[in-house]
Amino acid sequence: MSKAIGPVPYLDLAAEFKELEAEWFDAIRAAGRSGRFIHGPNVSAFEQETARYLGVEHAIGVANGTDALVLVLRAAGLKRGDEIITTPWTFFASAEVIAHIGAVPVFVDIDPDTFNLNPQQVEARITSRTKAILPVHIFGCPANLSDLGEIALRHRLEVIEDCAQAFGASRNGEKVGSAGRAGCFSFYPTKVLGGYGDGGLISTSDKQLATTIRHLCNHGAASPFIHDQVGHNSRLDEIQAALLRIKLRKLDQAIAKRNQVASWYHSRFIESPVVTPSCPFEAEHAYNLYTIRTPDRDPVRAALTDAKIGSSICYPQPLHLQTVFSHLNYQAGSLPVAETAADEVISLPIFPDMAEEQVDRVCQVVLDTIGQ
Ligand SMILES: Cc1ncc(COP(=O)(O)O)c(C=O)c1O
Repeated sequence: MSKAIGPVPYLDLAAEFKELEAEWFDAIRAAGRSGRFIHGPNVSAFEQETARYLGVEHAIGVANGTDALVLVLRAAGLKRGDEIITTPWTFFASAEVIAHIGAVPVFVDIDPDTFNLNPQQVEARITSRTKAILPVHIFGCPANLSDLGEIALRHRLEVIEDCAQAFGASRNGEKVGSAGRAGCFSFYPTKVLGGYGDGGLISTSDKQLATTIRHLCNHGAASPFIHDQVGHNSRLDEIQAALLRIKLRKLDQAIAKRNQVASWYHSRFIESPVVTPSCPFEAEHAYNLYTIRTPDRDPVRAALTDAKIGSSICYPQPLHLQTVFSHLNYQAGSLPVAETAADEVISLPIFPDMAEEQVDRVCQVVLDTIGQ
């Protein structure tokens, strides 16, 4: 192990900004001079570039990832009383949007290795009210859309992908966001493809769905000042689109670097009781987060904090046990894999320019704490 090298941030957005500053500011200046600030050329170009990158027919920029999900649920015709199967192991927004449209989130336990929705447990929870499955590619690891897709086909359910944490990840050569009816992305700054502010995107190859979404996200207007639905004001900002275009060009390299950091971590932990994140062999992980499991999680976190090393607990409470969903009547023990994960996980620093010495420093503190 290397000598102590000082603090390690959880992620380093300021350093990344410095690298992109000149290029982004040039793009902002050009956008300003064009005088087109809403639905301008950067948004259109970014939509075309992301559609090509993801392998879909349409991409629609929206204000954030939460809106992307709400807009897709509404455009797909999901409504009050419908049941939507999803994972309890995700950021709150994935289930919040289901409640927002008056539908019911039905939580199904996760796979212990990938933290993703476990397809083997989905069918038992399908009822006559079930209308959709909403898998989340958690931490950047693609969910098993082949198995979920087959179940959905058998039961005539929509598949709506929450890709917020997984831009650029793929499974069997298909990018996430291209296999379901639609994919919903977030450009929150900490994401694999992150803006410097809020932003989101919807991917789909369904022309009708894309048209409905374009109306819905622009106040339900089918043409200027003619409204056939009550919609939303949800648009990707021209300034964010200018940045995201620059970052998209560097994305594959950034994901490769994240995978390199993950492989350094794996190699340091391989002989230890630390459980490292696993990725199905047919998938390419985007490593938005690097989340390990250890029964000594709390002492490990305290030691990292003492050593000025960033970390995060994603997630301390699975969604089926959140008080806001207590009316759904899940109990402690209902979804044991997610509940055990909540007691054991800790996410370690990961960002594209993380140095091997920084990984060594993090591992040294973790392994010292668990007595390895
Ligand atoms: C899994 C997941 N879904 C949805 C969202 C919501 O995205 P946003 O913050 O852009 O609304 C996030 C991120 O914040 C997320 O991690």
